[in-house]
Amino acid sequence: MTKTALVTGASRGIGLETVRRFIHNSEDITTVVMFARASEDFDAAVATLQEEAPVGRRIIARNVDVGDRGDLKKAVKAAYDEVGNIDILVNNAGYTNPVPLQQVKMSDFEKTMNVNVYAPFLIVKTLLNRGNEFSLIVNIASTAGINGRSGWLSYSASKAAVINMSQVMREELAIYGTRVVCLSPGRTATALRRTLAPEEDPSTIMQPEHVAKVIETFASPIGRFIDSENVVVRQ
Ligand SMILES: NC(=O)c1ccc[n+]([C@@H]2O[C@H](COP(=O)([O-])OP(=O)(O)OC[C@H]3O[C@@H](n4cnc5c(N)ncnc54)[C@H](OP(=O)(O)O)[C@@H]3O)[C@@H](O)[C@H]2O)c1
Repeated sequence: MTKTALVTGASRGIGLETVRRFIHNSEDITTVVMFARASEDFDAAVATLQEEAPVGRRIIARNVDVGDRGDLKKAVKAAYDEVGNIDILVNNAGYTNPVPLQQVKMSDFEKTMNVNVYAPFLIVKTLLNRGNEFSLIVNIASTAGINGRSGWLSYSASKAAVINMSQVMREELAIYGTRVVCLSPGRTATALRRTLAPEEDPSTIMQPEHVAKVIETFASPIGRFIDSENVVVRQ
C-alpha cells in the first residue's frame, strides 16, 4: 500500500533531510507534503528534490507559517483535500530565541509555544476531525525538554510540553492503530543550533542526517530496532 507523509519545517535541517530520505529510500511513501514559510532556500530545496526524485514520487510544497493558527488550519485542510489521508506526520518545525529569563518577552514565549506546541497539536486535531487515520506521528522534541537549559526558558518549556503531549497522543490514539513517537535529539548541526551556540564547530556534533535516519526507521514497515545514539526515543 502506498503512503503519504507530511513533514513540517521541511525547508532545511532535520526536516529537509527527512523528506530526502522518504523520497529516496522508502518503498511505500509515494507522496510527501512539505510545509515551511516562503523563502528562496525552500524553493531551491524543493526544486532539487523534484529533480532528484525517483519516478512515481510526488512532492507537494506549501508555504505555511505554522505559528499562525488560521493559516495552519487552512493549509492542513487544503493538503488533506488535495492528497487524501496523511499516513505519516512528522511534526518537526521548531523555533527558539534564547535569552536570560528576565528578558523573555511574552510575545516571544507565545510565538515559541505557537510553533513548537500548538502547531503539532492543531495539525493532529484538524486532521483527526477531518477523518484522517494516521499510522505514525513523530513529534520532534529536544533533550532541552528533558533537562531545562539555562538561557532557553521558553524553548525548554515548549519541548517539555511536546514530550508530555506526545504521551497523551500515544495513549489516546493507540485504539486507532496510530503509533506516536517522540524524539528528543541532542545537539544537531543545523541553523537552529547555530542560534543557540554560534561558537560551536558543527563538525563536532550530530548531523541532521542522523536524526532523519532515526525518523525514517520508524516510518519503515520493518524498522523497529534502531541505533538512536544521541536521540532520546519515547514510543
Ligand atoms: N538542532 C538541534 O540541536 C536540535 C536539537 C533538538 C531538537 N531540535 C528540533 O529539531 C527540529 C528541527 O530543527 P532543526 O535543528 O532542523 O533546525 P532548522 O534547520 O533551523 O530548521 C527549522 C525548521 O523549522 C521551520 N520553521 C521555523 N519556524 C517556522 C514557522 N513559524 N512556520 C513554519 N516553519 C517554521 C523552518 O522553516 P522556515 O524558517 O523556512 O519557515 C525550518 O524548516 C525543531 O523542532 C528543533 O527544535 C533541534
